[in-house]
Amino acid sequence: MVRDDRQSRAPLLEALAKYLEDGVVRFHMPGHKGGRRLDPMVSRLVGEQAFTLDITGVEGMDDLHQPQGVLAQAQALLAGAFGADYSYFLINGTSSGVQALLLTLCNPGDKIIVPRNMHKSMIAGVIFSGAQPIFVAPEVDAGRGIALGVTPERVRETLARHPDAKGVLFINPTYYGTTSDLAGIVAALAPFGVPLVLDEAHGPHFYFHPEFPTPGLVAGAAAVAQGMHKLLGGLTQSSVLHLKGESLERERLEASLRLLQSTSASYLLLASLDGARRQMVLHGRRLLAETLARARRAREEINKIPGLSCFGREEAGRPGFADLDETKLTVTVKELGLTGQQVELILRYQYNLQVELSDLYNILLMVTIGTTDSDIEKLLFALRDLAARHREFAESRELLERAAGLLREPMIPEMVLLPREAFFHPSRVVDLQAAVGQVSAEVVTAYPPGIPIVCPGERLTPEIIDYLTLIREAGLRISGPRDATLETIRVLQGSRV
Ligand SMILES: Cc1ncc(COP(=O)(O)O)c(C=O)c1O
Repeated sequence: MVRDDRQSRAPLLEALAKYLEDGVVRFHMPGHKGGRRLDPMVSRLVGEQAFTLDITGVEGMDDLHQPQGVLAQAQALLAGAFGADYSYFLINGTSSGVQALLLTLCNPGDKIIVPRNMHKSMIAGVIFSGAQPIFVAPEVDAGRGIALGVTPERVRETLARHPDAKGVLFINPTYYGTTSDLAGIVAALAPFGVPLVLDEAHGPHFYFHPEFPTPGLVAGAAAVAQGMHKLLGGLTQSSVLHLKGESLERERLEASLRLLQSTSASYLLLASLDGARRQMVLHGRRLLAETLARARRAREEINKIPGLSCFGREEAGRPGFADLDETKLTVTVKELGLTGQQVELILRYQYNLQVELSDLYNILLMVTIGTTDSDIEKLLFALRDLAARHREFAESRELLERAAGLLREPMIPEMVLLPREAFFHPSRVVDLQAAVGQVSAEVVTAYPPGIPIVCPGERLTPEIIDYLTLIREAGLRISGPRDATLETIRVLQGSRV
């Protein structure tokens, strides 16, 4: 990237610094007026300085919904940093970016191609927009119980059946850091003129070091939503959306963001975004090189520990798994006869170490620019010790084996009503067994591998009910429905909707 000197500026941070320096007398929101009269514990834990920066869009600070001043300048720098044409700060998480993309692409009833393992924010966006989701099954790594990406072949087949789709919205990379063959997917879309947009919540760092998988905008995506808080220096909830080319209507995207975002944007979040962008442009390559080196060393050492394994980039190049973000360490623990959830709790309460997530077979560890060598040493010590101490116990071997028998290609049931129609339709709670033939009002996802078994508006066939029953009996973790024990399920009223 050609270095642009303007990138060493941070217009929003500079404006905030000036506001503080000027000592402006505050007759504006928020009510704490720069942190006066705080609860003492809040003051001690959060720090008064954070409150002095917590202002709103007053004179000189611009307006997120109509940026013309410092926010417009900061967003222009953001676009330059990521190679986008336009970029937007998000203060309601990456979720709001994903939802804005859906509202931009789809009118009610329009088709959108999405992976079956869509994130909750996509389900919400489908409900908001009234779009018809056309699902593509992701590939599954059955041994590890994780969903991978989508293959170009499946995209091609799906488009051949639905050439009128308005767009394709995929997750890339996955939470576990695996990526799809984006170049192949873009090539598959080209003859249909359908844009690819990405939930790139886990990929903003890809743009700042060449040893990461190809970033979405480089591969030809028309827009990407990214979690700057997930991987880089943004405060929690701070995210960004980038737009490139003309396949999405910019005005509609901006109108969608105005619909979805708070009118009281947090300047703490915005300031963290301005700083995170500058940091990546100025120092990203070095910081990420160090991060990669730490993650690589950790992976190598973890793979020497009996009972544990951590897959690496050498496995990439198979369907649904084109490449890997090496800073994500998925440690498969099933050989210990423990579940990932058990290992998470042992690490937390016996070693004072918190993982990013755990599922039945794995724990996921994130190594970022904030991780130190000492953190890696503590992790390796904990994993070596834990593996040595727990090998012979094998508490959950039976559950792990039962679950392995349940992993299968996702069934995608008939969609009777659109998710939006199902959301607004009257519903009632019934026993799971009594739900055969009814239409689900809820999404039900079992982990592993985190792919919805049924979505709102879909028919609960006998096969689906049998599968849900097996999953319940096997003790797999269920997410989505009101009743996570799955004894009951919410269905739409009226037997023949
Ligand atoms: C793949 C994916 N997309 C979107 C989101 C939503 O991001 P946020 O929590 O910033 O709204 C997440 C959050 O975990 C995610 O994992």
